[in-house]
Amino acid sequence: MASVVSVGDFNKDFYITCSPNHVNTSKDEHERSLILDQSSGSGFASNDMFLFGQIDMQIKLVSGHSAGTVVAYYLTSDQPNRDELDFEFLGNVTGQPYILQTNIFADGFDNREERMYLWFDPTKDFHTYSILWNLHQIVFMVDWVPIRVYRNHADKGVPFPRRQPMSIKASLWNGDSWATRGGHDKIDWSKGPFIASFRNYKIDACVWRGNARFCRTDSETNWWNKERFSTLNWRQRKLFKWAIKYHLIYDYCKDNKRFNNILPKECSLPKY
Ligand SMILES: *[C@@H]1O[C@H](CO)[C@@H](O)[C@H](O)[C@H]1NC(C)=O
Repeated sequence: MASVVSVGDFNKDFYITCSPNHVNTSKDEHERSLILDQSSGSGFASNDMFLFGQIDMQIKLVSGHSAGTVVAYYLTSDQPNRDELDFEFLGNVTGQPYILQTNIFADGFDNREERMYLWFDPTKDFHTYSILWNLHQIVFMVDWVPIRVYRNHADKGVPFPRRQPMSIKASLWNGDSWATRGGHDKIDWSKGPFIASFRNYKIDACVWRGNARFCRTDSETNWWNKERFSTLNWRQRKLFKWAIKYHLIYDYCKDNKRFNNILPKECSLPKY
C-alpha cells in the first residue's frame, strides 16, 4: 500500500495566497472555491514543499462565459532558476471549448507549451488532474489518461526537475490579454463573479523539511520511483496515443518556426 501524505483538508494543507474574501472553503474542508471578479482574483498554496510523488486534484472549471479567465494548478519551486509543472485552463465564450495548456520549466527555462481540447465539458463536473513526478519521468494525467510525458534525459543534457522541492499552487486570474483566441475575447465582467472549485485532492509525496526529504514510513520505499512507474505501461501508452492523436492542438516540439528549426533536444528523444 502506498502511503498518503494528505487527503483533502484545505485548511490544514494550504494557505490562501491572495484575497481571502474571494476564497470559500466548505465546512468539511474538502472543497474550496476560488472567485474572480473585477476587484480581484484569488489563489492558494501548500504549506509544504515536495520532492517526487503524485498529486491528484479534482477541479471544476468556470461555467458559462469564462473567456479571458485562467485557472492555474501547478507545482513550482519558486526559485530564480525555477522548476515548474503547469496545468493552465483557458476559458472561452459560452458554448466554446476550454483549452488545457501544460508547460514545464526546468532550471529556469520554459517555452514548452502544449495545448489540447478536453474530451468532456470540464465545467459540468469535477475531473481529476494529476502529476506523477519521479526520477524517471513526469506524467500529466486527466482522469488517469496520460496527456503529457516528459522523460528524464538529463544524461543527454536535457534539464529535468529533480533537485528543487516544489509547492502546490492554484489560482484563478484575469488572463484576457492572451488566453482566449490569443487575447481576442476579453472578460465580460457582467457575467461574473467567476468561480472554479477544487476538491478531494490527494498528495502522496515526499515532504521537504530543513533541506532533507522525508517520506512517510510506509512510503520509504517511494512507490513512485519503482520500476513499475519508471515508464508508461502498455495501457497508458495506448491512452496517451489516443489523447495526442485526437485532442492535441499545439505542440512546441512541432513549432519549427518558433525555434528557427532548432527544436529543444527533448523533442527528438523517446517519451517512454
Ligand atoms: C475558444 O473557442 C474558439 C472557437 O471554437 C476556439 O478556436 C478556441 O481554441 C477556444 N479556446 C480558447 C481558449 O481560445
